[in-house]
Parts: sequence; structure tokens; C-alpha cells
Amino acid sequence: MSPATKRKDPPGYKDIPEVSGPLLEVIDLKTWFDTPRGIVKAVDGVSFTVEQGKTLGIVGESGSGKTVLSRSVMNLLPKKAAIPAGGQILFLGKDLRKVSNKEMRKIWGREMAMVFQDPMTSLNPVVKIGRQLTEGLRYHLDLNKAEANETALALLRSVGLPAPDRRLNEYPHQLSGGMRQRVTTAIALACGPRLLIADEPTTALDVTVQKQILDLLQTQQRDRHMGMMLITHDLGVVANRADEIVVMYAGQAVERASTATLFASMRHPYTEALLRSIPRIENRIHTLLEAIPGRPPDLANLPDGCRFAPRCRYAQDRCVTENPDLFLAEQPGHEYRCFFPVGTDAGKDALAHNAALGHTATGTPVSVHGSVAEAELVV
Ligand SMILES: Nc1ncnc2c1ncn2[C@@H]1O[C@H](COP(=O)(O)OP(=O)(O)OP(=O)(O)O)[C@@H](O)[C@H]1O
Ligand code: SF4
Ligand SMILES: [Mg+2]
Repeated sequence: MSPATKRKDPPGYKDIPEVSGPLLEVIDLKTWFDTPRGIVKAVDGVSFTVEQGKTLGIVGESGSGKTVLSRSVMNLLPKKAAIPAGGQILFLGKDLRKVSNKEMRKIWGREMAMVFQDPMTSLNPVVKIGRQLTEGLRYHLDLNKAEANETALALLRSVGLPAPDRRLNEYPHQLSGGMRQRVTTAIALACGPRLLIADEPTTALDVTVQKQILDLLQTQQRDRHMGMMLITHDLGVVANRADEIVVMYAGQAVERASTATLFASMRHPYTEALLRSIPRIENRIHTLLEAIPGRPPDLANLPDGCRFAPRCRYAQDRCVTENPDLFLAEQPGHEYRCFFPVGTDAGKDALAHNAALGHTATGTPVSVHGSVAEAELVV
């Protein structure tokens, strides 16, 4: 790199060149694990695109395959255990499933980077913060020691870390949880990646710090014009932050839509159930949130029918024997996996039928509430 291209600003800051077409295109991705219990279909048919400068929210309960999905995209899964059972991961048109580790090392950090759920697992506990930042800068951007130190300091400032000069010489355990997540964000941003994957970046933090970190990620994503995958179990987290949302259930994408469309006309009963479990300001303080009853299926022993059927208040006989494919909704880019979609005549008839019976086709008792799709969302 010529000296003229070296900069004092955090690298990548507003200088990512425009790309034509999607940054990332994931097509019918399947990542399975061969385990003593059988084949665990952790990711089993997920498709989406991430555009430059846009945020894709990935939402689903614990165990729905969100981390396996993000690690599949990053090519960060143990090669021995994970079976690439199908699909493509096209990053700038190149299929990452066919890329060698050597090639991936040039992509990690420089082209795509990840902020992990627990910063302690991604930070090296025995290496000072400064060195953890400068290593990537020197490897990818060919900066000398002084330039790398200066850039590291600028990065720590840009993520709002208090007393950044002092922190460079500290170890991760000397920082609070929120500070550590700011440091891992700075490390992820250091080499100006085009794609940032944030996998439940705030789970271990208290509510106030959660908001600060989410705001920080959003600001950085916008300023740097990155594509971002924001992964969470909380639909409320992505409501105001994502351009598009993929809802995952038991390894599958069960609904995908722009954020506005999803909240205006969600079609999948699981998405509706997730929405019902978000706290809303109009609810009285002691109003109980509706937890989704039951548990997701064992991914090593999936039912023949719809994976959500045992927990679905719309479930009919057909759902017990047939697993729905993706259907296209009226709005372009909106798709869902359901035979009796929320808000449609088929869905309303299914609810009325189950209400009359008092249970669903799987025997789950039902109580029918009004539609919540129009309810105002307050996060
Ligand atoms: N290395 C592995 N070997 C076998 N099974 C695995 C492995 N890694 C993940 N799994 C299984 O894949 C499924 C999806 O796990 P994953 O960690 O992606 O869920 P998640 O949606 O990220 O959950 P959480 O919200 O708790 O982080 C789980 O059933 C998990 O047990
Ligand atoms: S209505 Fe049927 S197909 Fe749709 S989510 Fe419920 S169980 Fe699955
Ligand atoms: Mg996870």
C-alpha cells in the first residue's frame, strides 16, 4: 500500500467502494452436523441477501441455528463436524463454500468481520487490548507500528471507549462487559470490512449498555456504508434497526420480508408469536407477556410436517403431515412457510376452526386473541 493511501481516520471510514449487486447472497443454505444422536439439521434451507449499506436482521429462539448460520457465512465452523449439506454463500459473487482457508484469511477482517455474543471468547485474555487491535491492522493493511498504534487509538475513540490511551495497555479482564464489547466492535471494524456480522452482540449486557452497543453498531454501519447481519432472539431489537428481517425457526427461514412489510402484514404464526412476546408500552406494568408455549423440535429428529405445528394455534391436519415450502406473499421480497397464513382467509378459517374445537390438529389447547399486527411497536 502506498503511503498516500494510509490514513489517520479509522480505516474503511466512508471509503468502501460501491459494489454492483448484493454484497452477500445466501441461497438455500444447509449446514448439518453428524452427531451420535443422528444428523442435526442446524441450518436447513435459508436464503437471503445483504446489500451494501443495509442491515439484515436474523431473528429466532435459542437453538434455531442463528450462530451456525453466521459461522457458516464466515466459514468458521469445524470442518470435521459440520457438513455443508447444500446451498451457496456468494460474497461479491464468489462462493465461500469453495474458498480455501488461505483465501479466507484474506477475507476475514478485511472483507467481513464478526462481533460475537460473548466478548470474552473472542478477546485473548493474556494479550493487551492495543496489540489485539494492531495485529490485524498490520497484517491486512500493512501499517507500520506507529501507524497501527495511531489507528488503534482512533478506532477506540470512534467506538466511544472512555480513556482510550490507557485502555491500549490494559487486558480484557480490566474492562467492564460493555467496554469489552466496544473493543471487540473496534477490532471487527479495524480493517474496514464490507460486511459486519453481529451475533447477539448484547446478550450478556444490561439493558442500558445493550442499547448503547446497538446504537454504536447502527451508527458505524451507516457511516461506513457496510452491510450488516444483526442476529438476535428479540424481534424488538431489529424492529427499528434492520431494513429486512429473516425469521428462523428450527433451522429454517420461515419468513422473510422488509421490516415495514413484516410488521404491517406478517404471515407466519411464529413471527406473530414472537411479536406477542415483546414488551409494549401500552401494556399495563403487570401485564404478562405471552411466552410461546412448548419447545422447538429436536433438530436430529424432525417431524414430517411443519416444524412449528405442535406450538402453532393455526395448525390443521395438513400441517401434521406436510412441511410447507416457501410461498410468495403479495409484496415483492416477502415470503413465508405456512399453509394457513396469519391475516389471510385461510388463516382466519384455521383459527376459527381450532377455536370451535378448543384445540389444534396437534391437540394443543387454543385461546384466540385479536390480531396484533397493527399494534404499535415500542422498543
Ligand atoms: N458443533 C456442533 N455439533 C453438533 N451440533 C451443533 C454444533 N454447533 C451447533 N449445534 C446445534 O445446532 C443447533 C443450532 O445452534 P445455534 O448455536 O446455531 O443456535 P442459536 O440460534 O445461535 O441459539 P442461541 O440463541 O442460543 O445462541 C443447536 O441444536 C445446536 O445444538
Ligand atoms: S399453520 Fe400449519 S403450516 Fe402454518 S405455521 Fe402453523 S403448523 Fe405450520
Ligand atoms: Mg447463537
